[in-house]
Amino acid sequence: MGDETIVVVGAGVLGLSSALICQQHLPKTKVVIVARDLPGTESIDYASPWSGAHYRPIPDVTPQGIHEASLARRTYEHFKTYAAGNPDASISFITGMDWLESPGEEYLTAKTRYQDIDEFRVLGPEELPTGVKWGASYKTWCVNTPVYLSHLMRRFLLNGGSVIQIQLKSLSEAFTIQENVRTVINCSGVGFDDPASFITRGQTCLVANKASHTVTRQNANGTWTFVIPRPAYGGTIIGGTKEERDYEVSPRLETRQKLLETAAKSFPELLDENGQFRVIRDIVGRRPSRTGGMRLELENVEKGRHIFHAYGAGGRGVEMSWGVAEEVLGVLRKCISSPEIKSRL
Ligand SMILES: Cc1cc2nc3c(=O)[nH]c(=O)nc-3n(C[C@H](O)[C@H](O)[C@H](O)COP(=O)(O)OP(=O)(O)OC[C@H]3O[C@@H](n4cnc5c(N)ncnc54)[C@H](O)[C@@H]3O)c2cc1C
Ligand SMILES: *[C@@H]1O[C@H](CO)[C@@H](O)[C@H](O)[C@H]1NC(C)=O
Ligand SMILES: *[C@@H]1O[C@H](CO)[C@@H](O)[C@H](O)[C@H]1NC(C)=O
Repeated sequence: MGDETIVVVGAGVLGLSSALICQQHLPKTKVVIVARDLPGTESIDYASPWSGAHYRPIPDVTPQGIHEASLARRTYEHFKTYAAGNPDASISFITGMDWLESPGEEYLTAKTRYQDIDEFRVLGPEELPTGVKWGASYKTWCVNTPVYLSHLMRRFLLNGGSVIQIQLKSLSEAFTIQENVRTVINCSGVGFDDPASFITRGQTCLVANKASHTVTRQNANGTWTFVIPRPAYGGTIIGGTKEERDYEVSPRLETRQKLLETAAKSFPELLDENGQFRVIRDIVGRRPSRTGGMRLELENVEKGRHIFHAYGAGGRGVEMSWGVAEEVLGVLRKCISSPEIKSRL
């Protein structure tokens, strides 16, 4: 049999990471990315470039949460070595800080793996700002996502990968786009016909003001305020909203004002000498959410063809990206190396 071609649908952080890991570890295959949106372009339905992005470990209590936490942890470990060897990837390790005004039980009682992240420490009452009931600091990473996506794409192309920019209308198209395709990896984000998928609108504001660490503050009214520096002269993200099934495309001015006002109260040290944020732009993106969480599943279709689904990462796609890519690789290795599994597929 000739060399196989693996088609990856999607050029978000999940598609690019999956495509790269396959190229690196499955030398007898060709990898093709098929996507409507590519790094360097902007679309509200292309979530990855809008992402903060940082890693915020959370107590893992549900089975889904435990699985997501392990994917995020694998990304964290990978990023440690990756950041050191690839400065142009724009991944930077800094202090992360959580300030919660109304912490859930899981924070107070958590004995989960979440607490063994590097340098994790529950803050003492004297270290907490007024109104904050519980806080922690830990070592986290942040990344300038547009820069990171372009970095992944450059590596992919340099390794011999190819890209077809097209919007797929149906699932079967992905198999016919090149010869010898038996495997499609579906990293289409929100996709188009999974009834469990929905979008969660996120509005943030990119400012020029500098921040030295990330802060995530839960306000008493249930809203969240976060500050994420973007390495490589990327400015600082002030966030942010989570609005399920809200299809408003344009940034809302009142949302921007509220975000900046709240951030100015919580983090006055970020303001410039005139007591202001210097706004670069508003950001509106759609998180690819899914009832029941992300779908990571092998589906067998006719004629020995199979699709590995990896979509619906919600608000944690960057955090989980390398863990997801490793899962993709694990499944594909089995598919490709074992003839029995192959025939069962
Ligand atoms: C404001 C905001 C802040 C966020 N902050 C964080 C954060 O701090 N940390 C974090 O981990 N995550 C964060 N997220 C979430 C993160 O952005 C997503 O989870 C992640 O980008 C999902 O990546 P993806 O590759 O699955 O999807 P996407 O980036 O949406 O990529 C989907 C790809 O599939 C392609 N595609 C879709 N349908 C078709 C089709 N029919 N034919 C061809 N191609 C198709 C698209 O063109 C695109 O290339 C944030 C999101 C937003 C909006
Ligand atoms: C990928 O998943 C989405 C579900 O969101 C679905 O609509 C689409 O048909 C799938 N594509 C492929 C190639 O399997
Ligand atoms: C929630 O609380 C914060 C902090 O006090 C405040 O700035 C913000 O305007 C409030 N948001 C809403 C939607 O009420």
